Amino acid sequence: MVDAARARTASEAVVDVRYADIHDLPLHDHIADRARTDRVLQHVADPLAALGEIRRVLRPGGRLVMGEPDWETLAVDHPDSGLTRAYTRHVAERVVRNAGIGRQLARLAAESGFTVPTVIPVTPVFRDVQVADRILGLERTTRRAVEAGCFSDQAAEAWLTHLTHGPFFAAVTFYIVVAEA
Ligand SMILES: C[S@@+](CC[C@H](N)C(=O)[O-])C[C@H]1O[C@@H](n2cnc3c(N)ncnc32)[C@H](O)[C@@H]1O
Repeated sequence: MVDAARARTASEAVVDVRYADIHDLPLHDHIADRARTDRVLQHVADPLAALGEIRRVLRPGGRLVMGEPDWETLAVDHPDSGLTRAYTRHVAERVVRNAGIGRQLARLAAESGFTVPTVIPVTPVFRDVQVADRILGLERTTRRAVEAGCFSDQAAEAWLTHLTHGPFFAAVTFYIVVAEA
């Protein structure tokens, strides 16, 4: 992705693509006007420290826009509510490091010294199982749940068979949060 970004911006003299850990940005204090994170903080070791690092490089009044899912809101329609709960709990507890980051963003940003003027919830609804699988990784995650001992083979088959053969419904809420340094 870094190579692709460099190739796409090669003709833009003002663009400098760098690869770094969000906890340790290679930028001077107060150098940036804008920052953006898109589904990154859900994965990082220390979201609060990452936000502190972004605030360090933003100039006073600079703006950060974040977009993160809240995996605790994942809803999947399936007649077996026990399987559904096992699946959504597996996602929230074992698949994503900071699964509840969406609802935490505004508080973490405030704790990092930002003011937070705007929080926008966005809930995509998936009614096509193939689209949902591409974005949510339903089958891959189910296989991993079996490996982790959260689902038996039979439960995984029952779970996936129904999802792939009927009208499908899943939804998860993302939060877009605007923060000002
Ligand atoms: C779900 S992807 C989102 C990628 C991109 N924002 C997009 O819109 O396609 C999560 C990204 O977080 C990056 N990431 C995870 N931990 C990171 C860290 N400590 N510092 C910087 N990036 C990190 C991964 O490399 C990955 O590219």
